[in-house]
Amino acid sequence: MAAGFPLETIVLDPAAPANLPRQIYGQLRALIEGRSLPSGSTLPSTRLLAKDLGLGRNTVIAAYDQLALEGYLRMRKCAPPLVVDLPARAVRTGMPPTAPAGRISERGQIMLSQPHHSGRPGHLALHPGMPDALNFPFNTWSKLLTRRAKHAGHDLFGVYHVTGYPALREAIARYLAASRGVACNPEQIVITNGAQSAFDLLARIFIDPGDSVWMEEPGYYGASAAFLSAGAKLMPLVVNDDGWQLDPPTTRPRLAFVTPSCHHPLGLTMAMEQRLTLLRLAEDGNFWVIEDDYDSEYRFQGQPIPALQGIGGANRVVYVGTFAKMLFPAMRLGFMVVPEAIRDGLAAALSTTGQFAPLLTQAALADFINDGHLTRHLRRMRRLYAARRGHFMEVFDRYLGEWMRLRRTETGIQLVGLFHRNIDDRPLAAAAAARGVNVSALSMQYRHGRPRRGLVMGFAAVDERATLNAIERLRAVFKESS
Ligand SMILES: Cc1ncc(COP(=O)(O)O)c(C=O)c1O
Repeated sequence: MAAGFPLETIVLDPAAPANLPRQIYGQLRALIEGRSLPSGSTLPSTRLLAKDLGLGRNTVIAAYDQLALEGYLRMRKCAPPLVVDLPARAVRTGMPPTAPAGRISERGQIMLSQPHHSGRPGHLALHPGMPDALNFPFNTWSKLLTRRAKHAGHDLFGVYHVTGYPALREAIARYLAASRGVACNPEQIVITNGAQSAFDLLARIFIDPGDSVWMEEPGYYGASAAFLSAGAKLMPLVVNDDGWQLDPPTTRPRLAFVTPSCHHPLGLTMAMEQRLTLLRLAEDGNFWVIEDDYDSEYRFQGQPIPALQGIGGANRVVYVGTFAKMLFPAMRLGFMVVPEAIRDGLAAALSTTGQFAPLLTQAALADFINDGHLTRHLRRMRRLYAARRGHFMEVFDRYLGEWMRLRRTETGIQLVGLFHRNIDDRPLAAAAAARGVNVSALSMQYRHGRPRRGLVMGFAAVDERATLNAIERLRAVFKESS
């Protein structure tokens, strides 16, 4: 047995995403880098460690081999493995540093401290805004990708189409004209890595430090994070049960951010009168409007409302769309429709950030749209989500009605439950996450004044049984905390 080897610090989790050899490797590496296992010390033999951990010997051999391959261990015949003497400067401590090694800019500090909500793989039930990726037609998708990869021309391999693959831009322009009333030519469309990279790019282009942004309150924390990171001050554009409170702002903003088709997170739709008022204010105040149309494909009652961009906003409005809900978020494909005035410089701006999307994926998506698969997929998902929404609303009232009132809004794939009592929603969301229920706290979307408390919950990602199971677990969390 190796002298002083801290065997008990190795804790394995069979449910973790990393397999067991990877977990052993990672923990031993951290011990070596942190000098808890100093150079010259020995590790137990593979047989001994396997026995102590109750694992097959091959599992430990795989971990040791990787450490030896990377130069952390020296394997020896008839002697236990030896920890190698690493040069001091190459060593990372494995511990959080007490002080940063270099200075972090103010912008960097803002970026590093932004709230975000991501969840864990497998915890899909109630995940806000998450579509059902398992119902995505992966067979079709892989055929289209393979076909493009096999027959790709040189134009898919170089940095040629920085603002987007032409066939995809054309397909999106046709889709938007038909389904969202967006008036544009394909040259105005810029493909991005999801909506978030559009917000980041627009923030950098439009905002100087200290500029004001008229931001929905409550409003999407991803967009707030991009504006704050560019140095903006946020002015609240209050959204409540009466809609968007469009009293002219006291300071002239550089831009306004709105989600008029489906307010995030409250799910309201902006009335035509408010749309026209916003466009008039933007004209009078000479500011840009970012229209985030992230969830409008799913409307469960009434007719779709045309985009702001298409009702007279073409010069002021940057329309942002995403395939995060139509396909799935990790596809990282989105787009913007930009006014002619800023179109020409965008290739240079995108080249500066490096945030342009892989062309092979763009080409496959163009085929997916042009061959009719997107329309078919959306038709199926609308039917499926309508049924899941109905079920969610029914079981919500039965199991959670005692603690929350559900806002029965008609667009999008998430709903908000408002607490009857003013209890803190963040610890409650954290307790739910600990039980594998991925909901987000409503208060996270507020930045000014007193937030409303509640939970944002998705209903689309999993079937009725899994939803019911998650709602039961959420009920248990409420019971424990009351
Ligand atoms: C309001 C809003 N806008 C945009 C997005 C999509 O962002 P992305 O395309 O970067 O995944 C989301 C995702 O949840 C959202 O809630």
